Amino acid sequence: MPDSPHLLAIQGDITKLKVDAIVNAANPSLLGGGGVDGAIHRAAGPGLLEECRALGGCPTGEARITGGHRLPARLVIHTVGPVWRGGARGESALLAACYRNALGLARAHGLGSVAFPCISTGVYGYPSESAARVAVASVREALKDPGPVREVVFCCFSPADLAHYERELGSGRSSSGAGP
Ligand code: AR6
Repeated sequence: MPDSPHLLAIQGDITKLKVDAIVNAANPSLLGGGGVDGAIHRAAGPGLLEECRALGGCPTGEARITGGHRLPARLVIHTVGPVWRGGARGESALLAACYRNALGLARAHGLGSVAFPCISTGVYGYPSESAARVAVASVREALKDPGPVREVVFCCFSPADLAHYERELGSGRSSSGAGP
């Protein structure tokens, strides 16, 4: 049986990653914005916006794929996370759908490596610790059928986010553990 896909968390700028696809935390217009979306469009150049315009938008929880243009990543998977409205408006199911649908596209396109930002945790206000829990759980669930996907990177911008992911992935150093 082949090894199961490798999940890892790093701290860094997702626009620098040379993976098959990076995931963009977009808005339903797919026409760019601030945060990671703005950074991806700036690094990819105007060809990305042109390609996105032809897609005609994307509903919350779904995903679309484009070329990477000037990015080191070959492709960009755009997904639209939920705006946090207190947690009782289906936010966690929609956030899980973003990760699941993005990996569905990765599988369909034969991709081996995918990097995610912390979707919804910036402008959209999703509490970052619970977002990390949803992200890791939904990626693990989706990768029960990994297809060609061998590696999923959670690319965190802040040390606090990285700590949440390390804890979820079980690779964090225990702060309460005794001994060497
Ligand atoms: N690399 C990795 N992560 C980043 C980068 C980067 N270069 N830049 C920011 N982040 P946000 P959202 C992190 O606000 O909450 C846009 O305007 C950031 O620290 O980018 O899903 C869209 O057009 C945070 O942890 O996305 C939408 O309108 C995470 O990326 C709206 O924002 C997500 O923050 C989407 O809001």
